[in-house]
Order: sequence, then C-alpha cells, then structure tokens
Amino acid sequence: MSILNTLLLDNTEENIIKAAQILKNGGLVGIPTETVYGLAANALDPKAVLKIFAAKGRPADNPLIVHISDFSDIGKFNLASQIPKQARLLADRFWPGPLTMIMKKSDVIPNEVSAGLDTVAIRFPSHPTAQKIIKASGTVLAAPSANLSGSPSPTTALHVMSDLNGKIDAVVDGGMSDVGLESTVITLAGKTPRLLRPGAVTLEQLREVLGDVELDDAVLHKLKSGVKAASPGMKYKHYAPKANVILLKCSDSEYISYVNQHADSETAALCCDEDTEHLSVRCFSLGSRSDYSVQAHRLFDELRKIDGDSTVKTVYSRLPSIDGVGMAVYNRLIRAAGFEVIDLEKM
Ligand code: TXA
Ligand code: MG
Repeated sequence: MSILNTLLLDNTEENIIKAAQILKNGGLVGIPTETVYGLAANALDPKAVLKIFAAKGRPADNPLIVHISDFSDIGKFNLASQIPKQARLLADRFWPGPLTMIMKKSDVIPNEVSAGLDTVAIRFPSHPTAQKIIKASGTVLAAPSANLSGSPSPTTALHVMSDLNGKIDAVVDGGMSDVGLESTVITLAGKTPRLLRPGAVTLEQLREVLGDVELDDAVLHKLKSGVKAASPGMKYKHYAPKANVILLKCSDSEYISYVNQHADSETAALCCDEDTEHLSVRCFSLGSRSDYSVQAHRLFDELRKIDGDSTVKTVYSRLPSIDGVGMAVYNRLIRAAGFEVIDLEKM
C-alpha cells in the first residue's frame, strides 16, 4: 500500500466539506463519533470499503457497520430488505446514539460490507460532526473503529493518527469520544432480539423497550472452539495490551491486599480512584468505583497508556459487575485479559 499524507483536520465546516469530498472520491477518513472514532468509507463503493480492511489489517470475514444520518436513510438508500418493527421502537428511544441494529440486508449492500452474511448492521450516531460528514457525503458510510486490528478502539483523533497515519487520507478531530466504548449491537434478524455486544445502551434498557431480549453467550464467556460466532468480531482477540492483564474476582479490600502482595517494579494496577492511595504499584485509574460510565469512557485510553509504558509487564484489575454499563466494561476487560480471571472468593 502506498504511503498517504494523512491530514489531521479540525472540525470546521470547511473541513467537514473536505472530508465529505474525500469520501465521495472513494477515500478513507477517520471520523469522530460519540462511542469511538470510526474509519469511514462510502458503504456503497466496494473498492473504497476494501481499503478499510487493508488499512486496519482487518480479517475479511468481519462485517462493517453502516452509518446513517437519519432513520429515513434506511429506506432512502434501500439498505434493508425489510425494516423490523422493533427497529422503529428502538430508534425512537435510542437514535441518534450508541446503538447498532442488525437486520436482513438488501442487494444494495456490497458483500465487502456484510462479509458474506445476509444481514447488515446499521447505526445513526449522535455526534454532530459525524452526522454532518455523513450528510455532506451524500451517501451512507461503512465505519469500523479506527484502530489497527487488535489494538484498543480510538477515543481521540491522536489515537487514530498513532495507528493509521500514512494509511488513510484524513482524520477529523471532534474531541474525545463521550462514551469511550463501541456501540451496543443487537440483532433483530432472528426470532428473538439478541444482544451481541454490550455498550452504553444497556440490556436492561433494551428489555424495557422490547420485552424479551436474549444475551449472546459470547458477551460474557469465551467462545467454545467450533462454535460459530453470531457476531464475527467476537471471535477475535480484541483490545489486548502488550502487558498481561489479570482480572481478580474479589472484594475491594481483597483486591488491594492481593495486588500489594504481588507488587514489583513490573506490576501495575488498572484500578479505581478509591484504590490508588492504598496500592503500592503504579496505578492507572478508571475513575470512581461506582460509576461505570466514567470507567467506560476511560478504559481504552488507560489501556493505551499501559501499552505506552514498556516497563509494565503485569496489570491487575478487578472483575466489574455486569449490571447496567458494567456489562460493557466487563466484556472489554475480560477480552483484554484473554479471559484470565483469578477467583479469590474460591481460594
Ligand atoms: O461504536 C461503534 O459501533 C463504532 C463506531 C465507529 O460506530 N464502530 C465499531 O465497528 O465498533 P467495529 O467494526 O469495530 O465493530 C462492529 C462489530 C463487529 O464485532 C462486527 O463483527 C459486528 O459489529 N457486526 C457488523 N455487522 C454485523 C452483522 N451483519 N452481523 C453480526 N455482527 C456484525
Ligand atoms: Mg473494532
């Protein structure tokens, strides 16, 4: 792949038009969204979409989310063969916002986007800059998270630059992403709606709107070998920093004493504000113990900081609760830890 001169653009109206023009011409642009930064291309241009896979080093069998700037885009661009009635209910409550819905695709969706599946994932982001870029592009945008495959999703324009500088045409800086973790993914293509990836829209909230919502096994557990992932992204090792992350299932006081017993110059803690004064190792704090939204907001940034410190070889963190947004933090952390959990309650 040739080396591109990647432009880092402020989100001025002029630059939004410039970014839209690049997308119209089949280029790649890193765009801010409220969840994480996305690496966007014209979703209806297979050649442009293929460039996304090349730039990220993404496996070709992992489908992309199509980003729209109004619910009516689903009909206008004929993205779905049929719009499920649950989609309208969820859109009324959560769109624009951090929710992706999967439905049966139409023939308009290139195979490069759906990775050969008969479904398409659709999201209407709430970030004003994302909305403006999609609108100005005059199309809909395929956009995975704008990181190299296998590293944490980017929550700032500089994260995108550090992964993809020279591989994409531009990045538009829209500030730090509010949510900090990728969108909640729900499939409406089966008999019962099923949560495939937890995010800021919680399982509890989805059930309030739809009643019955199943929880896919891969959200909380390692896929058993031979089992096909409902969401292909779930089968890849994700978000894993270079250091070895170990999750402890224990009380707050047990966490502190365990980490201090194992303290040495190569050990760090991915912990909470309340822990830091009691710990004798380097601390990367996610914020208050009780606030999972703040922990979600900071998680990927802290994982990148840990990666930036080559002296850290082992990181101890606590297994979060799976209530509310805690489930999203749990889902990302347990992958960062390669599903390695030490259960101190059983010891
Ligand atoms: O918040 C987000 O969703 C961000 C921003 C940029 O919108 N995007 C994002 O995209 O996280 P990505 O590609 O990193 O994650 C999309 C996930 C993957 O796990 C993929 O396998 C799954 O959604 N997915 C996409 N289309 C699917 C489909 N048709 N069926 C099942 N899973 C699908
Ligand atoms: Mg991703």
